[in-house]
Amino acid sequence: MLSIVVAATFTLFAFTTLFVLTCASGANARLFLFLINRVPSMSVSNDNYWIKPLEERHAWDILGWEYPFPYDFYNPSSDDHQEHYVGQFLNPELKFHAVLDSCGTMVGFCSFGSDGQVSGGDYSDEALDIGVGMRPELTGQGKGAAFFGAILDHALGTLNPEFLRLTVAKFNLRALKLYENFGFELKDEFSEQPSAVRYRILVRAAAGPV
Ligand SMILES: CC(C)(COP(=O)(O)OP(=O)(O)OC[C@H]1O[C@@H](n2cnc3c(N)ncnc32)[C@H](O)[C@@H]1OP(=O)(O)O)[C@@H](O)C(=O)NCCC(=O)NCCS
Repeated sequence: MLSIVVAATFTLFAFTTLFVLTCASGANARLFLFLINRVPSMSVSNDNYWIKPLEERHAWDILGWEYPFPYDFYNPSSDDHQEHYVGQFLNPELKFHAVLDSCGTMVGFCSFGSDGQVSGGDYSDEALDIGVGMRPELTGQGKGAAFFGAILDHALGTLNPEFLRLTVAKFNLRALKLYENFGFELKDEFSEQPSAVRYRILVRAAAGPV
């Protein structure tokens, strides 16, 4: 019994030390990433972003985010249905995930499935819909490729889709440029009814460079 306790304590100590070293200096990153990638439902990219199922505290954090114009379009509603929105973030069918940096700070989130669709679009073809949102204060600093690359890595590694699909507001040239850089191509354009916002549906095959 004593030996089990000693072994467990040592293992916990070793993981904690490894985590602290990785966080503080970037040392041992490869070993750390290797170990974390063994945990089912979690993945870590080479850029040290972890993707893991979203938790309630993440949902409440996101509900407080505010983007500057014109991206305030993506601001979460501040009405009195916050509990409902948290429930949506935690709905397993929508596959919301938190994107964390190597110290566990949430840098953004993503969803895999129907939450990435917008009413009025044609989604009759089979494809995995991806939704993404980066923490507002991190946007516009050239971090998009690493962030989105980690999300794609996770989608391809855990969900095995044949095609990937994104629905993007047409005014959002920054997101469109990012997705175009990853090989996504225009499939369709439509307006959400009754609003006049135009959206683009972009698609790419799963096979190809991430
Ligand atoms: C979309 C998002 C992930 C992009 O990440 P980011 O770190 O802000 O983007 P970057 O700064 O890396 O810019 C991405 C690309 O857009 C380009 N870009 C930036 N602003 C641009 C603009 N106004 N017009 C055209 N291109 C622009 C950048 O130069 C870069 O392209 P490059 O790598 O070829 O130079 C992030 O902004 C986000 O989540 N925003 C909040 C909500 C949102 O837009 N969600 C997407 C819904 S589909």
